[in-house]
Amino acid sequence: VAEGRGDRVAIHFEGEPGDTRTLTYNDLLREVSRAANALSALGVSTGDRVVIYLPMIPEAVIAMLACARLGAPHSVVFGGFSADALRSRIADAEAKVVITADGGFRRGAPSALKPAVDEALEERDGVASPVEHVLVVRRTGQETTIVEGRDVWWHDALDSADVTHVPVWVEAEHPLFILYTSGTTGKPKGILHTTGGYLTQTAYTHKYVFDLKAESDVYWCTADIGWVTGHSYVTYGPLINGATQVIYEGTPDSPHQGRWWEIIEKYKVTILYTAPTAIRTCMKWGEDIPAKFDLTSLRVLGSVGEPINPEAWMWYRRVIGGDRTPIVDTWWQTETGAIMISPLPGVTAAKPGSAQVPLPGIVADVVDDEFRSVPDGGGGYLVLSEPWPAMLRGIWGDLERFKDTYWSRFPGIYFAGDGAKKDDDGDIWLLGRVDDVMNVSGHRLSTTEIESALVSHDAVAEAAVVGATDETTGQAVVAFVILRSDHAEALGTSDEDEIVQILRNHVGKEIGPIAKPKRILVVAELPKTRSGKIMRRLLRDVAENRAVGDATTLADSSVMDLIAKGLSK
Ligand code: PRX
Repeated sequence: VAEGRGDRVAIHFEGEPGDTRTLTYNDLLREVSRAANALSALGVSTGDRVVIYLPMIPEAVIAMLACARLGAPHSVVFGGFSADALRSRIADAEAKVVITADGGFRRGAPSALKPAVDEALEERDGVASPVEHVLVVRRTGQETTIVEGRDVWWHDALDSADVTHVPVWVEAEHPLFILYTSGTTGKPKGILHTTGGYLTQTAYTHKYVFDLKAESDVYWCTADIGWVTGHSYVTYGPLINGATQVIYEGTPDSPHQGRWWEIIEKYKVTILYTAPTAIRTCMKWGEDIPAKFDLTSLRVLGSVGEPINPEAWMWYRRVIGGDRTPIVDTWWQTETGAIMISPLPGVTAAKPGSAQVPLPGIVADVVDDEFRSVPDGGGGYLVLSEPWPAMLRGIWGDLERFKDTYWSRFPGIYFAGDGAKKDDDGDIWLLGRVDDVMNVSGHRLSTTEIESALVSHDAVAEAAVVGATDETTGQAVVAFVILRSDHAEALGTSDEDEIVQILRNHVGKEIGPIAKPKRILVVAELPKTRSGKIMRRLLRDVAENRAVGDATTLADSSVMDLIAKGLSK
């Protein structure tokens, strides 16, 4: 704005019901300044944590930037997470303020958010919530409880706030945000990112990986701000670079399956960044749907979140990209903060299905168990062997877990948790997680976290969760549960279909709808080794309808027969 670019459009907002808003960089600066003043007035100062629980509306970005202006780390919680998930994230970060909305529009209807906040803030086991105030954006206009003295409407707070704000200058290493992500235990990890390095790498990668021409491009990243992609490639990277971007509130099929393509035609989007699961879903709907829209404005396509299968890659390029556009398959993680491995458009000759090469400045390798670099053509574990600007600086409040998770497998070397192979040219192909983390529709879920949610139900004695290959979502959650003998009392039914439904809803309540298992199989036993470790590999065979592999290390080898028999009935 200071350099005279204040009239450039920062955000073209498209609400799900079809309402629109345009915010220039001038508008954005004014709104962010007012929001920062409003947060200050509510007692937020540098270092305080603010939880943001909002739909995909401009206020989500404004809220994040207002926190950044104050040096108050934000913790964005995806709007699809439950009240319980929200509560544990608020408690872990000891947040002082929550920014939420009455609700958002999803699949053609208003969907409430504020009741989950109210529930998350209730006292539990004699422990009061650390939250002092809740700022509430009015989005849907639905009936909303406002708690006197605690809750404030966003529009009231901003209306009375000054439109100028002097940012708080912070050190490069000052915390910018915490973002919770699933790990291999039941408790999500608060990934901590700081200011200078993170912003440098998000801006750099956004400019070069997407070949951004800020004056002329219209960029659209379909990720929600609840995930790291929304942080780095909706809020920070594009806005530092002065890009014009589209933000869309709803789902790709509301009110019709061509909504995304309609938006691209309407705003003449030139760069599209999305996830393989969305591409596969559109493939299923059929190519006659995108064919109805003019997509010739597109010039670069991006993919993120999971390996993109060559078939989806080819479809994306041909049907969406008109056989013209380069595709960048970008590998990175919540922990890396920004893109690490990706082809560069116009520079790298693309290979469908491969993320290919580390970006300039990034040192990645594929190693074996003994930390020997594998030769071209070999497979192993992906490691990052030199530091990078946007690397996580820790796990909030848990230094030991930080060291254990990332730095102990190969001492002093960052272990990404992904399997990978190098092809004959030395290009990197990602093969998926090698730990107990699943990737469902590009979202990270922990098997242990879902198992804990299942056993927290009175009717469940034991549970084992695996990720099974799924055509659309990449992986799907499949759970095996052993019921307690008195389960009929706890559940009020002994009908298996009903039981499965109750347990699926229970997981939805504990974690959020995205974590609901696709299938739950009630079994009498689980396959365990003599040391009591559940053999998930065998369960995965069952879940993927394959012949069960080598079961000789099972303590009781008849278990798999029992499970298979139970399933066939
Ligand atoms: O397994 C990798 C997969 O997603 C994981 C990171 O998930 P998350 O922290 O939620 O961040 C997702 C968005 C950056 C990785 O460990 N992953 C991400 N991008 C790719 C990928 N796998 C293969 N190819 C990719 N392009």
